Amino acid sequence: MAVVIVAAGSGSRLGADGPKAFVEVEGTALLTHAVCRAVASVDIAYLVVVAPPHHLTEAAGCVAAGIAGVAGPVVDGLVTAVVPGGPERGDSVMAGLAVLPADIEVVLVHDAARALAPAALFDAVVAAVRGGHPAVVPGLPVVDTIKEVDEAGVVRATPVRARLRAVQTPQGFDRAVLDRAHAAAADQATDDAALVERLGLPVLVIPGDLLAHKITTPADLGLAALLLRRGA
Ligand code: C5P
Repeated sequence: MAVVIVAAGSGSRLGADGPKAFVEVEGTALLTHAVCRAVASVDIAYLVVVAPPHHLTEAAGCVAAGIAGVAGPVVDGLVTAVVPGGPERGDSVMAGLAVLPADIEVVLVHDAARALAPAALFDAVVAAVRGGHPAVVPGLPVVDTIKEVDEAGVVRATPVRARLRAVQTPQGFDRAVLDRAHAAAADQATDDAALVERLGLPVLVIPGDLLAHKITTPADLGLAALLLRRGA
C-alpha cells in the first residue's frame, strides 16, 4: 500500500506567509502532523509527499520529522519520496502516482490540509479497498441543509440532507483503477473519487472522522490546536 500526501497548495485562504503545509499547529508543521499519522497506519510500504516545487527540502524535513515521531517495524521498511506538485490538485496527485513502484496494489491519496486524520482512518479505508471495493472515501453526514444555486445565487435544488455526505481524505483506491481514472480525466475534479465516478465505477463511503476536517481558514487552525491539546 502507498500513501500519496498532496501538500503543494498555496493555502491562500489561510492568510499565511508561505504554503499551508508548513504552517505550524502546536509547534509542528501541518505536513509533519499528516506524515506522522499516515506512517502509523499498519499497511504502508511507500510514502510520497507532493510538495510546492520551491519547498522540496522543507517537505523532506517534515517527512523525516513525521517518521521520527513513530516507532515500529513498518516504519523501518518504509520507502519515501518527495516530488514537486503541479498547478492544480489533480496535477499534484498525478505527479505522486507517477513515482509509485509497479508492485503497489492499493493507493491512498491524502490532503496534507487534513493533518489530524488518524492512523485508524487510514487503516479502515485500506481494509475496505482490500475487501473488494475499488474506491473508498470517508464521509460524515452533513448538518446544514445544502442548496444548489445558479450563477445569480437563485436556488435550483435542495438535495435530501439525509443522503448527503461531506467527504474527506484519505481516499483509497485499487491502484489500476486510480491510474485509469486520472488518465481519463478531461478536466479537474475536487477529489479523486469523482474521477472514478466518471468511469462508472462504484465509490463506497465509509464513516469519516471529525479529526480529518480540512484546515482551510484561521478558525480551522484554532480548532486543530484545541484538538491537539486534548490529545488528538
Ligand atoms: O486547495 P484544496 O483545498 O483543494 O487543497 C487540498 C489539498 O491539495 C491540500 O493539501 C493542498 O496542499 C493540495 N494541493 C496540491 N497541489 C495543488 C493544489 C492543492 O497538492 N496545486
